Amino acid sequence: MKISIINGPNLNLIGTREPEIYGNQSLNDFLLTLQKKYSSIQFTIYQSNVEGEIINEIQKQGFDADAIIINAGAYTHTSIAIADALKSIATKKIIEVHISNVYARENYRKESFIAPVSMGVIAGFGLNSYDLAVQALMI
Ligand code: DQA
Repeated sequence: MKISIINGPNLNLIGTREPEIYGNQSLNDFLLTLQKKYSSIQFTIYQSNVEGEIINEIQKQGFDADAIIINAGAYTHTSIAIADALKSIATKKIIEVHISNVYARENYRKESFIAPVSMGVIAGFGLNSYDLAVQALMI
């Protein structure tokens, strides 16, 4: 199985950014451990702060990967273009993840343009949200 993990803006700063919300571990370190844990899965891991670059990665992986795990960061709540890209690809197994429980935060984080084009949403389990998404794909 090929899984593409796509991360959006400011997620490169996880580990130092707002640690009371997102914890102290770097996302990159966590995802490297995740890759080792599921060694039979072929992962591609991508992060960008730029909306168009995220769309390019969705278009690239969306015709190659079996599944996409996406944390679009704040673009989750704003980007029709990312949602349109996810609708336009062959890969239909899409899981939206969030480190924090977006439903327990500001109202503007409760809206997602990505959720309607996803199989499901996993939010609020810290970095383990990514692990849970992989497990969901293995069911
Ligand atoms: C986030 C939640 C978003 O609302 C926020 O803008 C982020 C991180 C999360 O993983 O909890 O950048 O996607």
